Amino acid sequence: MRTASHSLGRWLGFDDDGLPPGPSGRNPFAVLALLRDPLLHLTRAREQYGDATCFRVGPLRFVSVANPDYAHHVLVGNHRNYVKSRNYAGLRLVMGDGLVTSEGEHWKRQRKLAQPAFHRQRLAALADTMSECVGERLDQWDQRAPANVDVHEEMMQLTLRIVGRTLFGTDLGTDLGALGPAVTTCMHKANEYAESLVRIPLWVPTPSNLRFGRAKRTLDAIVHGIIEQRRTDLSRGEAPRDDLLGMLMAATDEDAAEVARSEDESTGMTNQQLRDEVMTLFLAGHETIATAMSWTWMLLHQHPEVAARVREEATSVLGGRAARFEDLPRLVYTGQVIDEVLRLYPPAWIVERQALAEDRLGPHRIPAGTVVATAPWVFHRHPALWKDPLRFDPDRFAPDAPASLRERHKLAYMPFGAGPRICIGNHFALMEAKIILATVIQRYAVEVFDPESIGFDPAVTLRPRGGMRGRLHRLADLDPALAA
Ligand code: HEM
Repeated sequence: MRTASHSLGRWLGFDDDGLPPGPSGRNPFAVLALLRDPLLHLTRAREQYGDATCFRVGPLRFVSVANPDYAHHVLVGNHRNYVKSRNYAGLRLVMGDGLVTSEGEHWKRQRKLAQPAFHRQRLAALADTMSECVGERLDQWDQRAPANVDVHEEMMQLTLRIVGRTLFGTDLGTDLGALGPAVTTCMHKANEYAESLVRIPLWVPTPSNLRFGRAKRTLDAIVHGIIEQRRTDLSRGEAPRDDLLGMLMAATDEDAAEVARSEDESTGMTNQQLRDEVMTLFLAGHETIATAMSWTWMLLHQHPEVAARVREEATSVLGGRAARFEDLPRLVYTGQVIDEVLRLYPPAWIVERQALAEDRLGPHRIPAGTVVATAPWVFHRHPALWKDPLRFDPDRFAPDAPASLRERHKLAYMPFGAGPRICIGNHFALMEAKIILATVIQRYAVEVFDPESIGFDPAVTLRPRGGMRGRLHRLADLDPALAA
């Protein structure tokens, strides 16, 4: 009898044999607590259960790993056995089947197509555009400083301008005001949908669905506007541009010609796919950096000695002007600060996969269908991987830091993920963050009000909950000697 019920349990997915330890499957509160405050409960799971923790609701299993070897196995070594988890369905609502959410041959082809847009020479050409965008925003600040602002909203506006101009050659219209709230609504819906155990279809007119519908229409209008503007430019006889949108569109056009030549199934990008890629890069390419920059200003406000060192470096390398590509290798400490911010406040705080077939992580069995989380939040604050992990210390990334600080498992630090699905925009992001920080800090001091009270909103990115209230001070007004 026992064997029969055991087999039935196994068939239904209730078999616990060999799973990593964790709260009992009969305790739904553990999962509810995890959903309510994932940062706290992922950390507690690591403290209580060690290298891997299994949370269960009925036949659903969610394993959070805290051992970088396991993360390597899932994301790199045995990546073919893992696809993006069911939780990416939330992002799929907004991004469609773009690079972040697609799989298999389609993903491979799109990645190959988009990759050249992120090569070093392309980035060099984009650095000046980034600097221009920062300079323009600072000129706008000059009109109203000193001013109380939402620092996070300011960073969102700035990174939106940069992603529009660098990747799509457009200013996304003059009114960026409606965009921020639309992005927030869509990202929250993506998160809510991902976390729901029971998913209400989008056609049901709940208040949340209606809000999402309106926000998505706003974003779609922008994305279609970007594509249409480029088509108009081309039809006016402008040369095709070699930016990201140009590359994606060229692929569409060639494929359209191919379809015209043969009725065979097209391997090319349809208009819908083009929309999905543009939306993906538009969203993945600005909110992540905006979030990183917001936490940067908060940490610099809390650590004035670090802010002073960054300002000193920026002033001595740049002498008051905006940062350019050639300057970046000399902005060493500025880069260390960004690296350390991405460690303590990783914008992509969790990366998840789902096992296709049964697998093993060390002594643990990972049944097919299990969601495996490799959370940068957990790794970056792990006391076995970092000395004094909660301390903000950019010197741990110094090129001449003692070996005890520098030597660590490759996946102890993974703000951009790892393996074939590693962030395609990682160099773009680091370059942008450095340019923003070094340029702004020479002209402004960003005060953040009451930083200790700022909580986390761990949605798609690790946003500050309720924004980040603060004040922009022109250095020239504060202390002319500080202004470069
Ligand atoms: C600080 C900024 C950023 C962070 C922390 C970040 C983080 C990440 C992470 C962790 C992944 C892997 C997700 C996974 O494996 O499931 C990822 C993927 C991706 N990121 Fe980023 N990202 C940043 C900036 C950017 C930028 C600037 C762009 C584009 C301009 C971008 C575009 C993408 C795309 C398209 C993917 C999917 C890549 C693929 O699967 O082939 N990201 N990002």
